[in-house]
Amino acid sequence: MAFDIDMIKKVYANMTERVDAARDIVGKPLTLSEKILYSHLWDGKPTTAFTRGKDYVDFAPDRVACQDATAQMALLQFMQAGKPKVAVPTTVHCDHLIQAKDGAAADLKNANSTSSEVFNFLESVSNKYGIGFWKPGAGIIHQVVLENYAFPGGMMIGTDSHTVNAGGLGMVAIGVGGADAVDVMAGMAWELKFPKLIGVKLTGKLSGWTAPKDVILKVAEILTVKGGTGAIVEYFGPGATAMSCTGKGTICNMGAEIGATTSTFGYDESMERYLRATDREDVADAANKIKDYLTADAEVYANPEQYFDQVIEINLSELGPLLNGPFTPDLSTPVGKEMTEKATSNEWPLQVEWGLIGSCTNSSYEDLSRASSIAQQAIDKGLKMKAELGINPGSEQVRYTAERDGILGIFENLDAKIFTNACGPCIGQWARYSDPKNAPKNSIVHSFNRNFAKRADGNPNTHAFVASPELTAAIAVAGRLDFNPLTDKLINENGEEVMFDEPTGWELPPKGFEVKDNGYLEPVEDGSGVIINVNPDSERLELLEPFTPIGNSIKGAKLLIKAYGKCTTDHISMAGPWLRFRGHLDNIANNTLIGAVNAFNKKTNFVKNQLTGDYAGVPDTQREYKKAGILSVVVGDHNYGEGSSREHAAMQPRHLGVAAVIVKSFARIHETNLKKQGMLGLTFVNEADYDLIQEDDTFNFLDLNEFAPDKQLNVEVVHSDGSKDIISLNHTYNQAQIEWYNEGSALNLIKKQNA
Ligand code: F3S
Repeated sequence: MAFDIDMIKKVYANMTERVDAARDIVGKPLTLSEKILYSHLWDGKPTTAFTRGKDYVDFAPDRVACQDATAQMALLQFMQAGKPKVAVPTTVHCDHLIQAKDGAAADLKNANSTSSEVFNFLESVSNKYGIGFWKPGAGIIHQVVLENYAFPGGMMIGTDSHTVNAGGLGMVAIGVGGADAVDVMAGMAWELKFPKLIGVKLTGKLSGWTAPKDVILKVAEILTVKGGTGAIVEYFGPGATAMSCTGKGTICNMGAEIGATTSTFGYDESMERYLRATDREDVADAANKIKDYLTADAEVYANPEQYFDQVIEINLSELGPLLNGPFTPDLSTPVGKEMTEKATSNEWPLQVEWGLIGSCTNSSYEDLSRASSIAQQAIDKGLKMKAELGINPGSEQVRYTAERDGILGIFENLDAKIFTNACGPCIGQWARYSDPKNAPKNSIVHSFNRNFAKRADGNPNTHAFVASPELTAAIAVAGRLDFNPLTDKLINENGEEVMFDEPTGWELPPKGFEVKDNGYLEPVEDGSGVIINVNPDSERLELLEPFTPIGNSIKGAKLLIKAYGKCTTDHISMAGPWLRFRGHLDNIANNTLIGAVNAFNKKTNFVKNQLTGDYAGVPDTQREYKKAGILSVVVGDHNYGEGSSREHAAMQPRHLGVAAVIVKSFARIHETNLKKQGMLGLTFVNEADYDLIQEDDTFNFLDLNEFAPDKQLNVEVVHSDGSKDIISLNHTYNQAQIEWYNEGSALNLIKKQNA
C-alpha cells in the first residue's frame, strides 16, 4: 500500500465532474483550494455555494496519517468505535518518541528499548485495523507522506499540525486532533468551517542564499502567528512554479506557524518531477490528464484580488535570507547588521552554540544537499566549526540516498551528529542537558518550524532562531547569530580571510532515490485474529473510559487559572519528557497547564486553591477540586491553544474536571478539540471582560439549558467580596457539536450511532 492509484483515479474522476458543478453553483472561476474542497464534499456533487469563514461543511478526506505521539490516543479512541477496519487509507509513523543524543544507531536502539511497549501497541493496532505502519527510524511523518502518499488535488487529514506539509504536492492537507481522525477512520464525515482564502503571489525567482524557507519566514512576518487563522493560503505565480516540490512543502509546512488551516500550490512540473522521482509515474500520468483541475482557473491568478479574501505579493528576487525568532516564528530579522543591533539591544546571545538541520520542515534531499555545499566549503576553505551541528534526515529514503551520494559524509567530516530519521530536537527530544531548567542562556539556529521557549531542549534560556538549512549551516560554521554570509569574511585555520560562495544543491538526487529497507509494514488482510494487549499496570498506555456529560447546569465552578499572554498547546500539555505518557490519560494529566502563566502572580504552575487558600501546581489544585466534586473554569488570552493539534490539551483538562475554557480567541484546532471532548470552549463577547476575572472567582452559567447555535451564553461571575459581573460569551458550536457536548464527547456519540 505504498499508494493507492485506484483511489487517486477515482478522486480525479469525481473531481472533473464536481469542479464543473461547483463552478456553475459558485458562479465564478475557482481557486485551487475551492476545487479541492468542493470535490471532497461528503455529500458528493456540490449543490450549494458555501460562505467562506461561516458555513460548516462535511468533507470526505482521502487519507489519514498519525504520528506515534498522537496515534496512541487516536487509536485508543478508534478501538472504542467498534469498527473492524479503518474506512480510509491510514498510516501510522513512529517519529516523535526517539531522543537525539549520541547519534542515529545508538538513539534508535535506545528508543526501541524504552518505547517498545508503545511501538508494539501501535504496530499491533495498525495490523488489526488495516493501517500502514512506518517503524521507528523510517522517517518523519510529513516527509514520508510527501514521498509516498501525497497527490495533487487530494485531501488528507493528519494528527499533527504540520500535516499541511503535503500542500507542497498540491493537496489540501490539514492537521487535526486525534478525535477528528477517529471520525474519518470510522467512516464518518469530517467537519470544517469553509475556510477563507489568502492568495500569495510569488513573482521573481529565488537565487543565491535565498531559499523557500525565507518565503515562509517573510509570510510569517507579514501575517504574524494569527494572520492565517481560518484560511487556506494558496501560492501562485512564476516564483511558485520555479521552486522545487519539497521547497513548496517547506512553505506549506510552516503555514501552521501563521495559524493557517492549510496552504497549497497548483500542480506544476516540479510536482511531476517529484512524483516520477519517488516512483509514482502513474500518479503523475493521472494528474497530467486533468491538469486544469489541479490548479486555479486562469482568471483567478490574473485578477487575484477578485477571488481571494486577501492577497499578498512577494518578489522573490528582492527577498534575502532571514532569521526568525527568538521564542516566536514571526519575529523576522534579515541576516547581518540589523541582527547585531536587535540582538544587542534585546540581549540575545550573539554566540551560536548549535545549528540543527532537519525536522519535517527542511529535511529533504535538496535541503541536505544545499546545506552540505556550505559544509564542504568550510572544509575546502580550512574553516573550523564554531558551533556544533546536528542533522535529522527526513526519511530513510533521503538518508540512504544522501549517504550514498556522500552528503552525510561531508557533515560527518565536520564532526556533525547524524541523528535518527525522526523529529528529535524539534519536539524537545534532545538530551542536550542533564538539568535543562537551570541551563545557561544561549542561542541556537535551526531549520525547524517552531521556536517557542523550551521547545527544542527544555531550557527556557535557549534563544532559538529559525532559518533555511544552508543559512543554518553557515551560521554554525561562523558561530555568530549576526553572520551575513553574503558580505562577511571568516578567518580560517591559516589566518586567511575567506568567504562562502553561494550554496548549491540538487532538487532531486541525480542518480535517483534509493533505499534498502524503508521501514514500512503492510497490515494483514484480515486482522480479526490480531490480539492487542494493554498491561493494566502500564504507565504509558491506558484504555479509555467514556467521559460523563457535564450537563447543562454548571453552578459554583471555580477559576482554575487565568492564563496570561501566550498559552499554546505546549503550555497546556507540555511535550518533551511528557511525550512518554501520551497514551495514558491520567498520567499525562499531571502536566495540565503547567506551562501557562498565572495572570495574578506571573508564575507558572502556581495557582490558588480556592478551597484551602493555598498555592500549588495546577494539576494538583484541579485534582483537589475534582475530589470535592467541583467543576472549574480556565480563562485565557488571544489565540489560546495555538501550536499543535494534540487533543490531550483538551482531554486532560476534561479528565481532571474542567468544564469550560473562556478566552479572547482560540486557535482553530484546539477549539474543535474542546468541542470533541464534550467541553465548553467560549469567547468573551467583550474582550475587556477578561480583566474582570479575579483570582477567587466562582462561575454560574445562567442559560446553558438554552445552548443553541448562534446564541450567546451568559455566565455570572461571583467575586470574593460578593460582587458579581454578568459576562456574555460567544461560541461557534453548531447543532451537531452541541450534541457532542450533550453526549459527553463526540466519541460517545459515534459509539451510540454504531450500537
Ligand atoms: Fe516532528 Fe517537528 Fe515536524 S515534531 S512532525 S519534525 S514539527
